[in-house]
Amino acid sequence: MSDEVQRAVAALREGGLIGLPTETVYGLGADASNELAVRRIFAVKGRPSNHPLIVHVASLEVARHWAHSWPNEAEILANAFWPGPLTLIVERSALASDAVTGGQDTVGLRVPDHPLALEVLTLFGGGVAAPSANRFGRVSPTTAKHVRDELGGDVELVLDGGACRVGVESTIVDVSGASPRILRPGGVPKEAVERSLGRAVPLATAVTDVRAPGLLESHYAPRAGLWLVTASELPSELAKRLATGAKVAVVAPSDVTVPEGVVRFQVPLDDAGYARALYATLREVDERGLDVVLAVPPPESGVGLAVVDRLRRASAPRGR
Ligand code: TXA
Ligand code: MG
Repeated sequence: MSDEVQRAVAALREGGLIGLPTETVYGLGADASNELAVRRIFAVKGRPSNHPLIVHVASLEVARHWAHSWPNEAEILANAFWPGPLTLIVERSALASDAVTGGQDTVGLRVPDHPLALEVLTLFGGGVAAPSANRFGRVSPTTAKHVRDELGGDVELVLDGGACRVGVESTIVDVSGASPRILRPGGVPKEAVERSLGRAVPLATAVTDVRAPGLLESHYAPRAGLWLVTASELPSELAKRLATGAKVAVVAPSDVTVPEGVVRFQVPLDDAGYARALYATLREVDERGLDVVLAVPPPESGVGLAVVDRLRRASAPRGR
């Protein structure tokens, strides 16, 4: 057990906030049983307080304490994907306060697959409430540096667990109702969830539930304006943007060619590689002061579904 992990757990016990590495994105963690600490998360993120947080735990056994009931689907999916990039929405037990659930009767639970996160959660023993460690509506962090740059002054410490292996947030599956649905596509492919349950699991339609901010139309957004284009539309779209004098970036898989003079961010062709590179790329676009991003999305299969989802939300108009 490293000193850093012990300091992180001490900070949690004292009601402090920590930067917590996970395999998806970095979290802004607090003791989920400490209402004051949980409220600090909302204050630091600038997040509306009725938006629920995910409670991170060390194991399936601990997760069950946070649930009032544990449906069969929860058991199947937890056994298949935990530790891993899957969040289960279940009916809450008395452990889950209104502060954590935004007043809803359900709670989101996840066992992350990252050695440092698991050490912290095991030593801590309880639940750690952790949204992504970014300001509300902005790009999620995938390195410790991203967290320090954005929230450094507001956290006790940031554990450095390296660059996130998955790169987009967990898949959220709501198993609290009559039939399971996916509230947010993420690191576990929809196809894999369906294979495990042996049935189709539909995606919940966006904006019907504003309490899942990850489902808001505009989210995960860089400062630059972002547009989704196909590889064949790219040349004409580029010409149009460049004619306005804007500083234009192209985010595209390595098989797409781009004219000289345009800032090119090359992302891997495969869905998992694209996911891993996505957020760091959008941050770099902003750091370099570019105005416009034209993004060529990956195919919508596997983790590609989550990448396309995030690109769509990042591209939603925000009054510009
Ligand atoms: O991969 C992840 O899930 C990362 C890492 C840190 O674990 N966390 C994350 O948290 O993405 P956050 O707060 O940025 O997004 C959590 C999403 C939100 O859209 C929230 O509304 C939804 O989970 N959520 C949490 N509890 C819920 C509940 N009881 N019912 C419906 N949605 C819920
Ligand atoms: Mg988030």
